[in-house]
Amino acid sequence: MKGRTLLVVSIIFGVALVCGYLVAANANLLPEVASTRGDLMQRLFNSLLGAATVVFVLVEGLLVYSVIRFRRRAGDGGEGVAVHGNTALEVFWTAIPALLVVVIAVYSFRVLSASEAETEKPMVVEVIGRQFSWEFRYPEQGLTSSDLHLPVSEPVRFEITSEDVIHSFWVPNFLAKRDATPGQVSEFAVTPSEIGVFPVRCAELCGPGHAAMVSQVIVETPEEFDAWVERMASLPGDSTEAGRLLFGRYGCTGCHVLADAGANGLIGPSLEGIGTRAGETVPGLDADAYLRQSILEPNVHLIPTYLENIMPADFATRIPPHELDLLVTYLAGR
Ligand code: CUA
Repeated sequence: MKGRTLLVVSIIFGVALVCGYLVAANANLLPEVASTRGDLMQRLFNSLLGAATVVFVLVEGLLVYSVIRFRRRAGDGGEGVAVHGNTALEVFWTAIPALLVVVIAVYSFRVLSASEAETEKPMVVEVIGRQFSWEFRYPEQGLTSSDLHLPVSEPVRFEITSEDVIHSFWVPNFLAKRDATPGQVSEFAVTPSEIGVFPVRCAELCGPGHAAMVSQVIVETPEEFDAWVERMASLPGDSTEAGRLLFGRYGCTGCHVLADAGANGLIGPSLEGIGTRAGETVPGLDADAYLRQSILEPNVHLIPTYLENIMPADFATRIPPHELDLLVTYLAGR
């Protein structure tokens, strides 16, 4: 090849390498990052993507170049040149990837240990997965919620488990995900860095309601968080308001339709007008008894076309009697 052609090819190659690296290293492929741990992960991800792009352009570029440069010419029917290895080249292409892998391993390890580092005294939130809802318990505050509230900039440690099958607790904007395994507690620590409302998902196929196993994390100022804790610790004096609140707190809103409670879930039957139907659905059961049993033993009076074992069957152990009374009275009035 003439000197000029080689120069032009080298320049094109060099420009492609630099551009590829810059595009990949600054690519914005992850969700909006809302945790300090996520910042570390994002930097690691972009570094890896940058390095991978350089390797890709280099290897594919040499391949394309060789295909064009050393192609069979018209009228050339002879054998190719016999080549017998090249020690220098082999040492080179073994050493470079080995070095790359070591650098990536060290960097990844550092990011992992920094993101898992124990902070002074993180707030503990117990995360319980069950078919098909998330429950968040705050042992220090003594309360339970179906939404995850967190104060911004304060470290929190999740203790994650499941009551039935394997789920996966996933907050995409925290760049964090961990399996919820029955009989086992797994943990991860996170410090929310952005105020806002972000989705919580289940990332492990866990049954027919898997796609509906969603919740949200509300990252708020410490003052707003304290106010929420206070609100959660007490129930409004008005029984309708209290019932509406409990309907949301126990996650009913996720699966049922009930306009009064702002619920539009499609997993379970609609509860619109349930108060007028409840007394006539099962002969011999009045509205109160029917509603009560439907909450505590959801598989007994299944509405046709709805599946068994979708609604959690453990409300008897989770709802205190006075709250159950409030919830039943509330539903009977809808
Ligand atoms: Cu729980 Cu998927």
